[in-house]
Amino acid sequence: MGVIIINFKAYKEGSGKQAIELAKIVEDVSTRADDYIAIAPPLLDIQEIVSQIQVDVYSQHVDAVSYGSHTGRITPEMIHEKGVKGSLINHSEYRLKLADIEFLVSRFRELGLTSVICTNNVSTTASAAALEPDYVAIEPPELIGSGIPVSKAEPEIVENSVRAAKDISSEVKVLCGAGISKHEDYVTALDLGADGVLLASGIVKAKDRKKALEELVGLR
Ligand code: G3P
Repeated sequence: MGVIIINFKAYKEGSGKQAIELAKIVEDVSTRADDYIAIAPPLLDIQEIVSQIQVDVYSQHVDAVSYGSHTGRITPEMIHEKGVKGSLINHSEYRLKLADIEFLVSRFRELGLTSVICTNNVSTTASAAALEPDYVAIEPPELIGSGIPVSKAEPEIVENSVRAAKDISSEVKVLCGAGISKHEDYVTALDLGADGVLLASGIVKAKDRKKALEELVGLR
């Protein structure tokens, strides 16, 4: 059994009505799968999902500020108040400064939010692990959205990231992502020592999302 976090990004297929529809699919498949499946929908859809659907919801990003005079910002306290489980931090498509990443991990710890720091290679994975987040998620940017699974195309980056992170803190869980869509890609990631996967297009943009998710977790 592993961890699967599905990032809806800002895909049309992952927004508004389609976000709700996909969250319901995840809720349904979760009841039959052995895996922990969580989602990271767009912020505007979070409240509706949290109030109606039994699934752990993550934010895709949070700003590194607390309540105060910060126009247009979303703080860790705001997502916590909405019943959100945690957030991705420093996604490849929304990079942050090191000091901001550290601020968010510390504040998440105080609030009981789950932190998932995204990284791009083995050394940034080691640096991220030193901040002792709940998860680090290694995603080589060139494979994101490519359909080429990181667990198959670059198994060494997954293995070495797992080793680097666990050497620094055995408590930190490691996810890998980019191009993951099939059960085989997921199982290979687990075999390489990852605790799970972070993925997007393989499920969000699939023609039949329910079928794609069932296939990912081995129910087909
Ligand atoms: O956050 C997950 C993501 O960056 C990987 O995207 O479409 O390659 O699964 P994708």
